[in-house]
Amino acid sequence: MKTTRRKFIRTGAAAGAAFGTIPLLGAAPGHRYKTALIGSGWWGMNILREAMAAGQCKVVGVNDVYDRAMNASADEVEGLNGDKPRKYKDYREMLKKERPEIVIIATPDHWHALPAIAALEVGAHVFLEKPTAHTVVESRAIVNAAKAADRVVQVGLHRRIGPHHVSGMKFLKSGQVGDIGMVRMFVSGGGGGVEKPTPHAPTPTGMDWDMWCGPAPKRPYCRKLTPGGWRNFLDYANGTLGDWGVHWLDQVLWWTDEKYPKAVFSTGGRPIAGPPVFTKDESTTDAPDTQIATYQFESFTATWEHRKYAGKGGESHPYGCYFYGSKGVFHMGWRDGWTFYPSARNARPVHEDPKFDNVKDGHNIPPLWRDFLDAIEQKRKPVAEIEASHRSSVLPMLGMISYKLGRSVKWDGAKEQIVGDADANAMLRREYRKPWEYPAA
Ligand SMILES: NC(=O)c1ccc[n+]([C@@H]2O[C@H](COP(=O)([O-])OP(=O)(O)OC[C@H]3O[C@@H](n4cnc5c(N)ncnc54)[C@H](O)[C@@H]3O)[C@@H](O)[C@H]2O)c1
Repeated sequence: MKTTRRKFIRTGAAAGAAFGTIPLLGAAPGHRYKTALIGSGWWGMNILREAMAAGQCKVVGVNDVYDRAMNASADEVEGLNGDKPRKYKDYREMLKKERPEIVIIATPDHWHALPAIAALEVGAHVFLEKPTAHTVVESRAIVNAAKAADRVVQVGLHRRIGPHHVSGMKFLKSGQVGDIGMVRMFVSGGGGGVEKPTPHAPTPTGMDWDMWCGPAPKRPYCRKLTPGGWRNFLDYANGTLGDWGVHWLDQVLWWTDEKYPKAVFSTGGRPIAGPPVFTKDESTTDAPDTQIATYQFESFTATWEHRKYAGKGGESHPYGCYFYGSKGVFHMGWRDGWTFYPSARNARPVHEDPKFDNVKDGHNIPPLWRDFLDAIEQKRKPVAEIEASHRSSVLPMLGMISYKLGRSVKWDGAKEQIVGDADANAMLRREYRKPWEYPAA
């Protein structure tokens, strides 16, 4: 069904009202923020669509290194919002020319830090996709840049505002689960099998591959890399732990009063997919298909598990986190809502179904966007503010450092240093490909 422009905006505004938001302080009624998008792929457009539906953005620029994504994005914006955004293949040029008030960043993870910092430096508020960055020091540099610019950064950790997460967290914090000593986070599923290498190929017409790789190593193009497949190439992301794990680790940090773990250990590999292949002609992914990470906090132990084979069978929930308490087991899920399984004999489980604004992609971006605008107007922190989101995003990065080194790391969260391990500390950052400069933190 085709959405008309008028209906599109009206339903968006109604969705905001349904979440009981406070009127904007200090904004002229109907103020439309000059908004620009960096990374116009799947998720970037999910956010921009909701931003337009909320009725307060004028899209002035869309940016992508791939013409096809950029053109599709600009056409859709014109159809839905009536704006005619200018198209840019280089975000630096867009920031300089458009001076946007809001910038949405939905590039692959290796391309989060530099655009986020550049956007803050031109005075924009930033909606940044999760995880905040690819390496720890990049993420810290974004936090510092947000403080220096005194701008709002909302991170796309929409599970901090999704209705069943909010009610589930309230239940968890109410004490009804008892004393919690262990949390198990996981995602399972996938068919598995030995991964067949994908041949390298000429870059698709209209794609600036050098700019796509940017500060990361410039691998030969293969169709497995983009869109989306970069998640499983460790030059550009941190595998399933970085992609999915961050959402659940964020729920754990939301629940606990502790700010960081004191030790992290991760192990795993590619027992089913096979060793990574990278020759001059072809590549496989190189992220683990099997991974376990342990996060030792003062008062509890949290584990992460993923496997990309054996399907979803045999588990009563295919993803999420179990909180094990002295009064029972609480499962925080996604499409399966939340459920509490009391340990008392004959007590019945308590359950709540999820509610999504977008059922297909299972997200709650509208309230997250609304909260972002309210935070800008009210000069307050948004629900997924940058410092807390940084701490959540760092946890998969530490897990990957331990996985790559094959040993546990002791984390001094206050100093953001790994204790007594120079090699591990060196991996909190990485060399950038020239001419890109690693951000100072
Ligand atoms: N919050 C969530 O639940 C959620 C869900 C999905 C994706 N995401 C996040 O959104 C981001 C994008 O994911 P995706 O699945 O849409 O990836 P994608 O590969 O589909 O899209 C990324 C787009 O960025 C473009 N790009 C690459 N380098 C660029 C550059 N230097 N400048 C401008 N554009 C560039 C690519 O050409 C592509 O169009 C990731 O950080 C991902 O983790 C978040």
